[in-house]
Amino acid sequence: MQTTFEVPSNLRGSTYISTELYQRMYRHSIEEPLAFWEQQAHEFISWRKPWRSVLEFDYHKAKIAWFLGAELNVCENCVDRHLVTRANKTAILWEGNEPGEVRKLSYADLHREVCKFANVLKSRGVKAGDRVAIYMPMVPEVAVAMLACARIGAVHSVIFGGFSAESVRDRILDSQCKVLVTGNEIVRGPKTIALKQIADEALQQAPCVESVVVFQRTKSPTSMQPGRDLWWHDVMAAASAECPALAFDSEHPLFILYTSGSTGKPKGVMHTSGGYLLYTALTHKYVFDYRENDIYFCAADVGWVTGHSYIVYGPLANGATTVMFESIPTYPNAGRYWDVIDRHQVNIFYTAPTAIRTVAKEGPELPAKFSLASLRVLGSVGEPINRDAWLWYYEQVGRSRCSIVDTWWQTETGGILISPLPGATPQKPGSATLPLFGIRPCLVDDDGKVIEGNGVKGKLCISFPWPGQMRTVYGDHERFVQTYFSQFPGKYFTGDGCTRDEDGYYWITGRVDDVLNVAGHRLGTAEIESAIVSSGVVAEAAVVGMPHELKGIGIYAFCVLRDGGKSGGATAELAIKDAVRKVISPIATPDRIQFVPGLPKTRSGKIMRRILRKIANGDFENFGDITTLADPSVVDEIAKGARAVPA
Ligand code: PRX
Repeated sequence: MQTTFEVPSNLRGSTYISTELYQRMYRHSIEEPLAFWEQQAHEFISWRKPWRSVLEFDYHKAKIAWFLGAELNVCENCVDRHLVTRANKTAILWEGNEPGEVRKLSYADLHREVCKFANVLKSRGVKAGDRVAIYMPMVPEVAVAMLACARIGAVHSVIFGGFSAESVRDRILDSQCKVLVTGNEIVRGPKTIALKQIADEALQQAPCVESVVVFQRTKSPTSMQPGRDLWWHDVMAAASAECPALAFDSEHPLFILYTSGSTGKPKGVMHTSGGYLLYTALTHKYVFDYRENDIYFCAADVGWVTGHSYIVYGPLANGATTVMFESIPTYPNAGRYWDVIDRHQVNIFYTAPTAIRTVAKEGPELPAKFSLASLRVLGSVGEPINRDAWLWYYEQVGRSRCSIVDTWWQTETGGILISPLPGATPQKPGSATLPLFGIRPCLVDDDGKVIEGNGVKGKLCISFPWPGQMRTVYGDHERFVQTYFSQFPGKYFTGDGCTRDEDGYYWITGRVDDVLNVAGHRLGTAEIESAIVSSGVVAEAAVVGMPHELKGIGIYAFCVLRDGGKSGGATAELAIKDAVRKVISPIATPDRIQFVPGLPKTRSGKIMRRILRKIANGDFENFGDITTLADPSVVDEIAKGARAVPA
């Protein structure tokens, strides 16, 4: 079995970074981080005012600040500064839901639209520091709204268009958003989502929102509340295209993005301006070996961090043409990506393993119908990529001449931390390989002892700050400290398990906490459990991950019915699924529901999840020590039931 894939010969010597240069730059970034980042900050960002110090941090208090005293405008960096040389270059290349439904916004167009929308926001009373919720279809106007916020120092909170009214409401309330930017409908593959209707439901309990701007994506009738709701096209027609970009502090908040954790409600991950922009721009350039005339296509949704960092901020800071894709990989058929790549001559393509597995299932015939000759770099993100999916991507899509960059990172990290660099890093399918500049990964055991050497396994921490790191949990700094800096004091704890192999390569093995990466979407087991209980038919639930052929990880819910199981069956299952869709989103719907007489609890009432994880993984025997369980017999019953549940 081939384990290492050398740098494709056509890329050798032609990329920004060679193996030797990577080693040299990495060493410099570790030995002299301040000098390294200072140099990069000059190269990638236009600053209005210089910094007085590069970095100040205290990992015990979770205080992190980069480029202190410096000022910049993030929007100016992503738009205005390109007007001199790239005014007519396409900034956003939009491929709509129907094949060939295309819109192109040049940097000049983007500048005009952003200035206008910034004025719209100002006219609705939005000031620097105010929060603006963005719950929209995947259209260029999402990026316009985000950049308009950045231009006037407002803080955007993008909410994935698949979230339910309750999820939207909770996110809006948590950060007290003043304005909501939404769309009337989302069109995604064969489906239409009545977005405005969901937004209206959310707003019934979110009085903080004073104005709603609605982008008209379809011609369907849309109800508008007079005095509160405005059509995007109306307000834009009336807005001035003059809007000066003011300078903001390097640590001025740029955005909040909610993400799931082990406990409680999703937390508002907060990113700030200078460090985040530098980090996304630098990683976009080096990880994808981005060149001036490349067509760059990240197929993520802008509602997740990948869309923020690698559809909008990183690529636009580098003056790239960024493709925005509204549809799904299987519409109208599983060859859609390859069609988009050929039609737009895409050079760099970035997607998630789930999408690769979904289209690979249809066989190699579809990609074989396309040329795909423009491709040079292929990226993967969001979950571990299994060997088969990696090989399929490498051979059928990349035709064994493209670099695959398996990029490991998180909402919290702002940008990619561990990844191969095209032309520099020999690949091993399934390994994210080596740390990027300035990143100091370390593996620790359960007691927090650092595990040195190679050929070892532990929990992944990062022991030194990097500019793209999140700064706080919005409105709850203590939660930031507790979640990331308390388990292993002095280090940032990622929540991931990891192996470092004999060559020093990192292999992410998945979450070690109660977070599931389902089809690359991050969900907390606690939030799914509470949604299940809200169905009214379940007294108690425990959710764990299970292997899933396409999604990587599926959701397995063990449920104790309220009436002791008498009513079980299809009706209860439907009620549970409906409740999850209503409270969270269809993406959190359990793949498998098993009704059980009780959950395996210790005498102190704690659910022994490791037993449930084993059962969900098809292991019905090796439960280890279960003597601390209040009622060990329940384990046999659950195992017996699990065998009987249809897969
Ligand atoms: O478990 C890791 C997994 O996704 C988690 C972060 O999820 P989220 O914040 O939603 O961000 C996803 C997009 C950056 C991580 O803790 N993950 C992400 N990338 C990889 C990965 N696991 C393995 N390999 C990756 N390349």
